[in-house]
Formats: sequence, C-alpha cells, structure tokens
Amino acid sequence: MDYNKKTVTDVDVRGKKVLLRCDFNVPQDKKTNEITDDKRIRAAMPTIQYLLDNGAAVIACSHLGKPEPTYDKWVKKQTEKGKDPAELTEEKWKKSLDKLTLAPVAARLSELLGKPVQMAADVVGSDAMAKAAALKPGEIMLLENTRFEKGETKNDPELARKMASMAELYVSDAFGAVHRAHASTAGVADYLPAVSGFLIQKELEIIGGAMANPKRPLVAILGGSKVSSKIGVINNLLEIADTIIIGGGMAYTFSAAQGGAVGDSLLEADWKDYANDMVKKAADKGVKLLLPVDTVIADAFDANANSKVVKAGEIPDGWQGLDIGPETVKLYCQAVADAGTVIWNGPMGVFEFPAFAKGTEAMAEALSKTAAITIIGGGDSAAAVQQLGFADKMTHISTGGGASLEFLEGKELPGVACLMNK
Ligand code: 3PG
Repeated sequence: MDYNKKTVTDVDVRGKKVLLRCDFNVPQDKKTNEITDDKRIRAAMPTIQYLLDNGAAVIACSHLGKPEPTYDKWVKKQTEKGKDPAELTEEKWKKSLDKLTLAPVAARLSELLGKPVQMAADVVGSDAMAKAAALKPGEIMLLENTRFEKGETKNDPELARKMASMAELYVSDAFGAVHRAHASTAGVADYLPAVSGFLIQKELEIIGGAMANPKRPLVAILGGSKVSSKIGVINNLLEIADTIIIGGGMAYTFSAAQGGAVGDSLLEADWKDYANDMVKKAADKGVKLLLPVDTVIADAFDANANSKVVKAGEIPDGWQGLDIGPETVKLYCQAVADAGTVIWNGPMGVFEFPAFAKGTEAMAEALSKTAAITIIGGGDSAAAVQQLGFADKMTHISTGGGASLEFLEGKELPGVACLMNK
C-alpha cells in the first residue's frame, strides 16, 4: 500500500467546506456519559485548528460505540443476549441510542477550542444539511454519531454521497477507524477530493516507516492473550523484524506446543501446530524468536492470588501463568537495549493486577531507557504504558487499536487507501 498520501497542507482549504472524519470513539462513564479519556479528541486538535485558522468551515463527524440503528435488529441482538423480548420496547432502543450521542464530544471540543461547536441533531437529515449550509469559514459543527445511519457500516454509496454533498473537501484524521470500510471512513472519498489530517500522516510516517525502512535491529514485542488474534502480525513481522519477543497469555500456547506443562494457563490447543510452524519459520529466516524461560504463576485468576515463579513449561495443575518471570525479563530487556526500533503490541502479563504487572512494567521501563525508536500499538499496550506512567517516554503511541494491529499485519487500510496519493 502507498502511504505517501496528500495531506491538508497539499490542498487549498481556504473558504472550503471540509468534511472532517475524526475518531471520537471515546470512553465514557456508563452512568453519567462523562468522557473519561479525551486523548482521541485532543489528538485531532492540530488538524481542526489548522483548518479553522486557514479559513475552512469544518463539518466534523465520527462514530461512537456500536449503536444498533434499526429497532428490529436491536431487538434481535438483545434477544440473542438472553433479554426478554417483551421488555424490549422502542423507548428502550431509543434510550440506547441517546447514550451514544456525540453531544458530550461537541461540548469537550468546544472547551478545547475555546469557541462554539454546533451540534447537529442528525447525520444527513434536515438539521445537519441546514447547519452545514449556513456554516461560515472559521466555524465548526459536529454531525451526530455516523453509526445512527444504517448505511454507515455497510458503506452505502447513497449515504456517502449525502455526506459528501455538504462539503467540497474530505479530510480524514480518524486513524483509529481506517481499518473500517464504512461510508464516512472510505465511501465519501468517491465523491470528494480526499486528503489526510496530521494525525493519520504521523501514524503512517512512524508506523509505516518502521515497517518499510526500520532503523535496525528491529525488535517486535508481541503479547496479549491469544495466538489466534496475533497470527497476521506474527506472520508479517517474521518478514521484517530481526527479533520477535513473545509474552502474555499466548506464550503458553507456544510452551505447550513444545511439550511444556502449562497447568491451567490460557491455552489455544488448536493453535499449537501453528505456534511450532512460527518457531520453524523464524529459524529458517534467521529471525530470533524469544520465548519466556520462566513465568509467574498464580493459583487463581485474581489480583490477590497466591503466586510463585517457576520455569517455563513446568506449571503444575491448578496454577496458571499470569506474567513473565524475572529471568525472562532480563533476557527481553537485553534484547531491546541495543534495538534501533522497537514495536510493541500486547502486554506481557495481566498488568491490571499489580502483582502480575512486573513483566509489562519492566519492558516499558526498558523501552523508556533505550535510544531506539519506540512504537506502541494502540489498545491494551497503550493502556498499559499509560497506566504504568511511561507514556511520555515513548516515541509514538498509536491512537488506533484494531487499526494499528491491521497496519502491523500489512493489510490494506481502506480509510488510507481512499486518500489521494502525493
Ligand atoms: C476503536 O476504538 O478501535 C475505533 O474507534 C474503531 O471502533 P470500532 O471497532 O467500533 O470500529
């Protein structure tokens, strides 16, 4: 895929109406709807500010959560979840949509910008159309949650055309959603000239650059619970990395594949052959594949469980591995010490429990001390680095969870592919 995309600075934005796709899919308090982390809103600020300062009228849009845009489908899904159909009233469905309004985002955006942000009551309805038509250069409005439209996730051309009809230019800065081929992330680009904002530009430059032309040695740290969800990443990184470090729950499938005893640890028995294939592929390609040599085990999946350290592959029944052990930490820290680039995706253990966060913390600390370019994939890894206090020590923390994973898998990202090449 060509990452050399035109950005807002490559086109004339003055006096133009700009449809700006952001990823404002922010976490909110379940009861109060208060935004609990506004990082994604702040990450879009440079592009928004640039557009406003340069005389564009900004029609911002985003999805939030996974609303069910039709009552029938909502009933079907809730029933599948075991809810009593008699209680699934239309009023309740509407309430579920109200919970996912972007109004709190408009309010936060307005605070950050220090100017009003007009909130449209719909996406392509009469209110959005009227507000967009009246919008002046230097002003900004926010459309309602794009997923309130049933055509959004289906990439319906009619919805894309209607959204595009409000603007003269499409700017995407929604890196977190570029792996989705939806009407607002990709479809609109069929109807408008399409360029990236500064956030997408930065993500492409740093992650894309590290994969296409890394400062070597390139060390990839892969963790998280399941081998099955990381297959694509392991496969792709085996082609480009010098060293691959395996941690987290998926290490136990590798251990079991080599005949180790893993007790009650997370195990994907169906993936053992695959794990062995990966070990062989790494050896054939001359890629160092490092697996844990010891592990911290617990007698329950609990923050206060009894714990001890054992050698990898020697976990007794009734015990489960929840973190990499101290010898593994030493080995892994040595591997990243001399790296030119480190890409990290997935924690080393159950970092949410302080007793089992040491492995993840030690790796974060080691990364904070290397001279290497350090890139943290979004989602759990970003949360871990933030929670453990090392966020400002990393070169780049991606704002995309699923998007950064698919990027590392080498997949084409529809929300990037649709933008104009330089
Ligand atoms: C994310 O949170 O990873 C993005 O906003 C994409 O959200 P989605 O998984 O609901 O498409």
